[in-house]
Amino acid sequence: MTQRILFVCLGNICRSPSAEGVVRVKAAQRGINLDLDSAGTGDWHAGEPPYGPMQNAAKARGYDLSELRARVVRVEDFGDFDLIVAMDADNMANLRRMRPEGGAEVKLFTDFAPEGSGWTEVPDPYYTRDFDGALDLVEACADGLLDALSR
Ligand code: 4NP
Repeated sequence: MTQRILFVCLGNICRSPSAEGVVRVKAAQRGINLDLDSAGTGDWHAGEPPYGPMQNAAKARGYDLSELRARVVRVEDFGDFDLIVAMDADNMANLRRMRPEGGAEVKLFTDFAPEGSGWTEVPDPYYTRDFDGALDLVEACADGLLDALSR
């Protein structure tokens, strides 16, 4: 069965579209079929493509995010997806509040970071300006997520 996974951050213009784009490429490389999307808990950027500097950093590594458009997370997502993956503890808390009984489970992306790495959330590059650092972590978590799905 094709797993449906939704990645969620705050604005849906940096971290979660990067996670979507990276997991899409890596899943295809491994021959794993996934339905992927991303969304934000905030609506400021709804309808916009990913943030320019984020797109540029991703493109340099072979991830084209240009077709993605931001949207806000909605209650229906808990029925439409099998797994919802939050980028940080605030996203997680907001998603837990929204989650209907029996809805998709919510996990942190860093739950899939390499064991002992110490990462507990994906720092927001919109504020840190460290787009490559965010991508390093997103790539590592993407590998961990795909390993978990393959088990
Ligand atoms: P993201 O980063 O949650 O990784 O997409 C942000 C981008 C924009 C804003 C917040 C976070 N903002 O407040 O505009």
